[in-house]
Amino acid sequence: MIPVTRTFLPDIEEYTVYLDKIWQAGHITNNGPLCRQLADEIALYLRVPNLELVTNGTLALQIAIKVLDIKDEIITTPYSYVATTNSILWEGCEPVFVDIEPQTFCINPDLIEAAITEKTSAILATHVYGYPCDVARIQKIADKYKLKVIYDAAHAFGVKLFGESILQHGDCSTLSFHATKLFHTAEGGAVVSKDAEVGKRVFLMKKFGHIGEDEYLDIGINAKMSELHAAIGLCVLPKVSDIIASRKECSGWYGEQLEGSLLQWPISPVGLEYNYGYYPVIFSSHDVMMKVRQTLMDNGIGPRRYFYPSLNTLPFLKPELKRICPMSENISSRVLCLPLYVGLSMADVGVICGIIRHTLQGGVKL
Ligand SMILES: Cc1ncc(COP(=O)(O)O)c(C=O)c1O
Repeated sequence: MIPVTRTFLPDIEEYTVYLDKIWQAGHITNNGPLCRQLADEIALYLRVPNLELVTNGTLALQIAIKVLDIKDEIITTPYSYVATTNSILWEGCEPVFVDIEPQTFCINPDLIEAAITEKTSAILATHVYGYPCDVARIQKIADKYKLKVIYDAAHAFGVKLFGESILQHGDCSTLSFHATKLFHTAEGGAVVSKDAEVGKRVFLMKKFGHIGEDEYLDIGINAKMSELHAAIGLCVLPKVSDIIASRKECSGWYGEQLEGSLLQWPISPVGLEYNYGYYPVIFSSHDVMMKVRQTLMDNGIGPRRYFYPSLNTLPFLKPELKRICPMSENISSRVLCLPLYVGLSMADVGVICGIIRHTLQGGVKL
């Protein structure tokens, strides 16, 4: 079986060294020394300020919405994982879907202004597969209408634009360190805030708004990372450059072997230093994609329809929130993310590409 992704597991001996430390300290959660060390090391690696670790990328989004005091309508992308929309709804806000651009599959800045009303308070956009949103234009619109900006950067660990971390943009960026991500802590995430005061509020909110013995300063939730999770992160972080290099190599094999096969890929903007988090391809039609997917699955290969469905079509949305987003609906009906992980061999990529090419050439009846 070749799955779409495989969690990078460090040597167990490395992890047990940290477990010994945890046992000796007797400190297993509540902002322990390993959490503090990991936060510092990630911030240094990414070169970002005000980074707070949290339990997962979904709580990171919810806390960012809460901490920035965002209310009512949030302009957002229909092309993301369901957590992006859910966090908006969970915080009692309304998602206003704005369609995506065809190059990067990120929110289309040309369409944002038309969706702004007097109830709009923020833009929440995803750096899809790690390809950056048009951060300059989005910021310009946000400044004009006094809107907050949150980037769902779950896929954007290590991504740089013109030499700077993409996480520097917006009021907050949120990260997921789920086991499927290229840097992970099994479950985990972080909020990166531009403003140090916002960062302090994130720190407070993620621990019930509670400091000291009995001071309760702000509305809070429990989104603390445990020492056991931080220890995994400390084992994985030193390998991240190698992990990215390995994924780059695999992506290169796909690129060579699928060249000329009439597929569509996201287009990298100028100045991008990519992290090779995903290998998405867009097929010429839904039927072709489904046929390729079935043939891959029949051969023990597990590609993923990611992102599908387009979030503006989620069944639990109120009808008035289901704005039509033709580009997002179109792309999500034709996309497959192909397997990509450390340890995927050139031969595996060869088999996958062989099946895709054979199916596209009509070797399998469509
Ligand atoms: C774009 C995006 N946002 C948010 C999340 C949620 O992250 P988590 O699983 O850590 O809660 C994910 C997870 O896959 C994601 O892909």
